Amino acid sequence: MSVPESTYLSPIWRDDIFKGKVIFVTGGAGTICSMQTRAMVRLGANACILGRNASKTEAAAKDIATARPGAKVIGIGECDVRKIESLEAAAARCAKELGGIDYVIAGAAGNFVASIDGISSNAFKTVMDIDVLGTYNTIKATLPYLLRSATPRLLAVSATFHYTGMPFQAHVAAAKASVDSLIASVALEYGPRGVVANVIAPGPIAGTEGMARLASSRPEQIAEHERAIPSGRFGTVRDIADATVFLLSDASSYINGQVIPVDGASWRRQGAYTVGVDMGAKYPDFLEPGRTTEGLKGGKKDKAKL
Ligand code: COA
Repeated sequence: MSVPESTYLSPIWRDDIFKGKVIFVTGGAGTICSMQTRAMVRLGANACILGRNASKTEAAAKDIATARPGAKVIGIGECDVRKIESLEAAAARCAKELGGIDYVIAGAAGNFVASIDGISSNAFKTVMDIDVLGTYNTIKATLPYLLRSATPRLLAVSATFHYTGMPFQAHVAAAKASVDSLIASVALEYGPRGVVANVIAPGPIAGTEGMARLASSRPEQIAEHERAIPSGRFGTVRDIADATVFLLSDASSYINGQVIPVDGASWRRQGAYTVGVDMGAKYPDFLEPGRTTEGLKGGKKDKAKL
């Protein structure tokens, strides 16, 4: 299903600004990362996207390639960012087939809505492993190629939960805080060698898997949530893709080691919000014993995704 350009890109960018460049994206079949990739491909880049689900990743790669005639997009499935060998093999294949790696988006992430009491130590570790170790592994596997590029750029996809703390997101908030910190270290250690490393922190973006899990589906609560956002609306995948194009382009080369929220100033009002709670209870009522799991979406899966 090819996507109309207006869904993922503003009409202000020039064709071919990324011509001859290659982008490597973990979690590249996901709602946000696939649109970031699509925008880069539309503007001239070739791409390699990685995911755990092989058929989903390969199908997404084919579809993203329709954004520009002649585009090359490789989809590498069964790639788990928790395994460094998986990433090293993917980076080698990307460089061999597409000629190198100029830009990296570390977008693979894990999330579910659960209280501290409601998750096991292994569940906490799973999210830390996917987000933190996965981002580290992505950096480690791609740096050798980035350091050979004339425009080496790394962009991690984070979140804003940890700025305030967030009920039922303790595991994710801890992981994203670490991701932000890792990218700061990359800028400090590799900035002198030309690497530009930043973080993009999406707020509530409509139509994403994250929103489906985290936000209410009740119309009156959706309207209330949107009203509570200073910009008055949920974000779109285009908001994130446009910001990505800017952050990977030459126009932003002096923005380095930064965390850029793209959230309509939403995080400034978040915190004890009713994340993941669908039954209309307000904070702190939904934390009462016996009610913490009531209305939570995205409950335990029967079996692993891979
Ligand atoms: N609530 C509480 N614990 C949960 C949970 C939930 N909703 N979902 C999973 N867990 C626990 C499991 O029970 C397990 O812990 P245990 O061994 O103590 O029972 C642990 O988390 C690992 O689960 P598992 O399903 O084996 O991990 P996985 O590696 O297959 O999947 C997840 C990782 C759990 C993050 C899964 O949600 C996933 O694959 N997510 C990818 C997509 C995604 O989250 N994208 C983010 C969009 S915002």
